[in-house]
Amino acid sequence: MSVFLGVDIGTSGTKTLAVNAAGEILAEASESYPAYHPKPLWSEQEPDDWWDATVKTIRGVVKKAKLKKTDVKAIGLSGQMHGSVFLDKKHKVVRKALLWNDQRTAAECEEIERRAGGRKKLIKMVANPALTGFTAPKILWLRNNEPKNFDKVNKILLPKDDVRRRLTGELATEVSDASGMLLLDVVKRNWSKPLLSKLELDPDLFATCYESEQVTGNLTAEVADQLGLSTDCVVVGGAGDCAANAVGNGIVKKGHLASSLGTSGVMFVHSDEVQVDPEGRLHTFCHAVHGKWHMMGVSLSAAGSLEWFCQQLCKELLAGKKDPYAVLNAEAAEVAAGSEGLFFLPYLAGERTPHADPDARGSFVGLTLKHTRGHVVRSIMEGVAFALRDSLAIIKEMGVPVRQIRVGGGGAKSDLWRQIQADVFGQKVYRINAEQGPAYGVALLAAVGAGEYKNIEEACAATIYNTDETSPNSKARSFYDRSFPIYQQLYRSLKDDFQSISKL
Ligand code: XUL
Repeated sequence: MSVFLGVDIGTSGTKTLAVNAAGEILAEASESYPAYHPKPLWSEQEPDDWWDATVKTIRGVVKKAKLKKTDVKAIGLSGQMHGSVFLDKKHKVVRKALLWNDQRTAAECEEIERRAGGRKKLIKMVANPALTGFTAPKILWLRNNEPKNFDKVNKILLPKDDVRRRLTGELATEVSDASGMLLLDVVKRNWSKPLLSKLELDPDLFATCYESEQVTGNLTAEVADQLGLSTDCVVVGGAGDCAANAVGNGIVKKGHLASSLGTSGVMFVHSDEVQVDPEGRLHTFCHAVHGKWHMMGVSLSAAGSLEWFCQQLCKELLAGKKDPYAVLNAEAAEVAAGSEGLFFLPYLAGERTPHADPDARGSFVGLTLKHTRGHVVRSIMEGVAFALRDSLAIIKEMGVPVRQIRVGGGGAKSDLWRQIQADVFGQKVYRINAEQGPAYGVALLAAVGAGEYKNIEEACAATIYNTDETSPNSKARSFYDRSFPIYQQLYRSLKDDFQSISKL
């Protein structure tokens, strides 16, 4: 039997899938771990936790699917993007990793633009502007703020690539995740030597960069033994979780867009050519499809906004017997489109697309005595959909065709939130047979790397299809067309106040 594993090292936990050659899921296992927030807007995790979760979940699927040692031919890794794993000479972790949603690096973003010779020149070198979440500013932050730690650093890896190091002993990355370091020449699909030199960063600090389906190494004997697998098992490049999720949704050709409602929200569109937003609002990264690219907009708090509301303000629901999210969904479904004038700006962790503003704050605007919890929940869903529409609008403005939108992520399980997405986007949204997103995408990349399929397009065509569609409701759609400009104006009106608040 040929089995392929997809391991997704996410922010709330790691999920591993075992998939057969036909793309059927044989077993899955998950493990969660904490994130640390030592200061407001700081966000860190322990790389050892990712490794422990990887080992546990791989062993978990091997056991559940009763796999023989030689069944697993290849492993694909997906991971939360942008995180910085700092390793010393002996490849020991120097400090906790800074994560994608950490906002401490505003000064370093300015420094990068200055050293690059301005924002335009930076975008020319690496296709993107400096954003607080990206990896390069984190590296400069370490140099500027923890120089003793910086002096110890010998290699810098992304989260999933540190797991790869422990699996295979290889220091390797791949183009889709490396794009989010802000150090990759996205057009040439390799490190940008000119930018590294301007930032005074030694190119040897970084790993060898592969395409996503390429084999980066085999399991070491010790790890193979620990996992119950063979040293013939290869580990392919894999992908950053956004590209991995896109592959897992079959977004591997022109005109296809994935809207994902996870902790963060992502609008991801495939592109056969490199297209760069001159204003730098959208990210242009290498796709996990060999030689192709993608553009994406990221909303930092998407389903994470509803999770925050439920965890912090609905404690009695959490203690009850019913699924708290089902209760909240049912209450919100009673409320008409527009939440009777209540707007939510989902900037709980600052915002990336389109504002690139670490000082932005979550806000409810328009509250009245009439509003109930259902209104508040619906306004959260609508605010998040508006944030995604901001990205969709830029994609369309750039002339990128959007013929089919596939929705995924935890938030897309809600019928109501899917309907709100169709109404706010003004287009049908589709669900597919595969719900596992990133872990599924990298399991398919593993199958390609092991030679099971010719390329990832062929693997997706063989395994992924639409299962249902949600059409926009014409009344709700035209209502949202009228209220979206108000949503957009609210950020402009509050921008200066957000800045004053952050300075308090
Ligand atoms: C993408 C991004 C997030 C993380 C979350 O640019 O920052 O989607 O990858 O896992």
